[in-house]
Amino acid sequence: MRLDKFVCKSTKFSRTQAVEYIRAGKVVVNDVAVFVESVQVHENNSVTLKGQLLVPRAFRYVMIHKPANTICSNVDEAYPSLFSALNLERSDELHVAGRLDANTTGLVLATDDGRWSFDIIRPQQHCKKVYRVGLSKVIEKAQTIDFTSRFAAGLKLQGEAELTRPAQLNILGPREALLTISEGKFHQVKRMFASVGKRVVTLHREKIGEVTLDIEVGTWRYLTAAEVASFKDEA
Ligand code: URA
Repeated sequence: MRLDKFVCKSTKFSRTQAVEYIRAGKVVVNDVAVFVESVQVHENNSVTLKGQLLVPRAFRYVMIHKPANTICSNVDEAYPSLFSALNLERSDELHVAGRLDANTTGLVLATDDGRWSFDIIRPQQHCKKVYRVGLSKVIEKAQTIDFTSRFAAGLKLQGEAELTRPAQLNILGPREALLTISEGKFHQVKRMFASVGKRVVTLHREKIGEVTLDIEVGTWRYLTAAEVASFKDEA
């Protein structure tokens, strides 16, 4: 990890303060003062600040139930950040593993462990995500089998050269479906339904890999050790 990040993760200092200390020669790595904040350090390195040994905090892995009209960013923009209403310390250190659109609700995983989140979002991982979808128009009985097999076979999305990966569509009611996909293209679910002539009006993520959303909207909890480890086992 970068030296400035290491200092932040071991202290209460902001990134700006960490950089100031580093440039002033107050940070020593393995007995040598280092003046450049981008230097990579390992957790096993001895890093001191003004003579005090720095020990980085453990990584955090959290589940958040995202409300509508929030964004998966650390800063408020057109909509408030999903972190802003959470009582979650140092949320500026966290990033999400797979964004949701502002009007999408449901399961968001957040962490400060970039390797872990990469395992979830890298395309080769084919991590499964389950979405509950509400549609503006009814899926007619006659369309049910056709849609299910087209989603399973792969759909041609506008602007994409390749078909979508096989997806499982379970139609729950005239305007409601559960969709399981194993990739994460931009606006993927909305574009998949658009390709069969349907408009998504509500979208809610229920599950990522083996982790199922089980908390109230607008709240968060730490993932269990088993949930954290579960992503390592995906193909
Ligand atoms: N697909 C979408 O279209 N939007 C989301 O927020 C997530 C998946």
